[in-house]
Amino acid sequence: MTTYHRDKKPRRPSLLMCVNRRYRSDQSSCAARGSLKIAKAMEDGIRHRRIELATERLCCLGQCTEGPAMRLTPGGEYFLGVTLADVPGFLDRLEREFGTHPETDEAEALPVDLLGS
Ligand code: FES
Repeated sequence: MTTYHRDKKPRRPSLLMCVNRRYRSDQSSCAARGSLKIAKAMEDGIRHRRIELATERLCCLGQCTEGPAMRLTPGGEYFLGVTLADVPGFLDRLEREFGTHPETDEAEALPVDLLGS
């Protein structure tokens, strides 16, 4: 028998962004509605503003006909039909909700065991 223990540590808040593209014209997909550009704009904005939120690109959030689709985790709400025009306001909301982290010196941010002795 094999057992598996899931990590019980609280998961860092993340914004999941669907970038799935389907090549059959009769099937909906978020990438066909511009989700790649929107995901890039969200990633750049979150990094630039130093918002305390991770981002993940995924290949489907099960909301294909309503995309581009995003979701906050853990247990968060969906954002459907997101457009590039929505990005600045969405970033404002995420910044208010999750806060920002202070600017850090990149050398200070490295794990200690990578710095050598
Ligand atoms: S293709 Fe984006 S939610 Fe399914």
